[in-house]
Amino acid sequence: MAEPKTNVLMEKIVSLCKRRGFIYPSSEIYGGIAGFWDYGPLGAELKRNVKDLWWRRVVHQRDDVAGLEATIIMAPQIWKASGHVDTFSDPMVDCKTCKGRFRADQLAETPCPQRPSKMVSECHGEKTPPRPFNLMFTTHVGPVQDDSSLAYLRPETAQAIFAQFKNVLETSRQRVPFGIAQIGKAFRNEVTPRNFTFRSREFEQMELEFFIRPDEAVEAICGHVATPAGPGHPGEPQPDWGWQMWHQYWVEERLRFYESLGLSRDTLEEYWQKPEELAHYARACVDILFKFPFGTQELEGIAARSDFDLSQHQRFSGKPMTVFDEELKNAWAKLPQEKQDALWRRYFEARRAYLARMGETAEQAEALARADADGLARGWYVPHVIEPSAGVDRLILALLCHAYSEVTDTDAKGKPETRVILRFHPSVAPIKVGVFPLLKNRPELVARAREVRDLLRPRFTVFYDETGSIGRRYARQDEAGTPFGVTIDFDTLGETPALKDTVTVRERDTGRQERVAIAELIGWLEAHLR
Ligand code: GLY
Repeated sequence: MAEPKTNVLMEKIVSLCKRRGFIYPSSEIYGGIAGFWDYGPLGAELKRNVKDLWWRRVVHQRDDVAGLEATIIMAPQIWKASGHVDTFSDPMVDCKTCKGRFRADQLAETPCPQRPSKMVSECHGEKTPPRPFNLMFTTHVGPVQDDSSLAYLRPETAQAIFAQFKNVLETSRQRVPFGIAQIGKAFRNEVTPRNFTFRSREFEQMELEFFIRPDEAVEAICGHVATPAGPGHPGEPQPDWGWQMWHQYWVEERLRFYESLGLSRDTLEEYWQKPEELAHYARACVDILFKFPFGTQELEGIAARSDFDLSQHQRFSGKPMTVFDEELKNAWAKLPQEKQDALWRRYFEARRAYLARMGETAEQAEALARADADGLARGWYVPHVIEPSAGVDRLILALLCHAYSEVTDTDAKGKPETRVILRFHPSVAPIKVGVFPLLKNRPELVARAREVRDLLRPRFTVFYDETGSIGRRYARQDEAGTPFGVTIDFDTLGETPALKDTVTVRERDTGRQERVAIAELIGWLEAHLR
């Protein structure tokens, strides 16, 4: 579907993505479907690399995070408990004249379908008052299509993590503090999908729910709660960290992740949501923004969600979401009475406030909160959570925008020629190495080049290309973002005896060429592809 042409650079990126097989409009032969995009051969590799790097960093390289892969369609009660059925909506206005439906907060920027020179806010069509439009896609499970079979395509991966919290805890040998990570598809029926893949209706998330002790438990165990001394990474996690330290830790960890993919800090911004912008369950939320050509927009949100989610699932499912903490039980028994009373009261007040906010009667909220605070004194609590939640597709788009550059060369006839180089960080580049025989019509060069290709293939994604001039082949790989090109020439075959069994390795960003022995090629590439 046609996107509004907002920006020349974005137009070039969209066109390159199509031409080189990064991203295509979904169902394009039928005119497309708004808000849905397909990843072509290069895009699929790029996406796979990004997800693998996230998983490696968040799950494999830590002792305290376990993975999960849950279903997209889950019991619909999950979305009642999470609040999505009641509140995950945009306010919409219907026009009785043109029958269009528009986002109430975008009337001034939306052209009237009947009189496009006017915005909907100024046209004469009669409008309804704003009404909530739920963003979840619905479906039916089983053959009967009625309210009893209604289900939703998940609008976030996070809720499956909360719903499976107890199973993961029991089977992973983890103890709080620990996290559960998931990568997967999510769906939102966005009213106005836009900015290429930035706001899509089907997209992928990389979410971590990191469960921590409530501050009252930390204080009981450590005698105090550490809070951030200033900006920056607070270092290795410590037992006395309260939620603010964990929150800052995850913000900084996530920034480091983006830096490791080549998005330096000056391409990013941190946005601390103001109290009035926070979701009702959140104590704090930091958005990591990237400077896209269409504006500075969110890549990831890191929210401190208190114990809201697990508490909601405990209330709605009737299954306890509490954990037992032996250290807390032992420490509590040794506390002076006045300290016990102070911590008990703080915990009680927080639980009572949450329960009252969720609609429990005053008596019920008081009774439940009292039981929760008594539980705390015996070592039981509902864990709190810090949630770093990133959009895969937004990150892919950020990497493409960041990598895009143009260079102007002069061709053999002295004519200037502008071409594109995608300067991807090697870790995300879809293809790591291009392998080229200098000439296609020399069987001995082709045979040796194929041997080099087969040598490299088990370790790297390799693209073998023997067609066109060597300059064209380099340019094609520059445009795909391939960091290195390996050329097999007559010296490889021994024309200059000292260079026998060596190849030329060309660097994408500098065009610099180096002679490397084939026997050392894997080690050389591994060292340069980090
Ligand atoms: N789980 C947070 C989000 O989907 O935005």
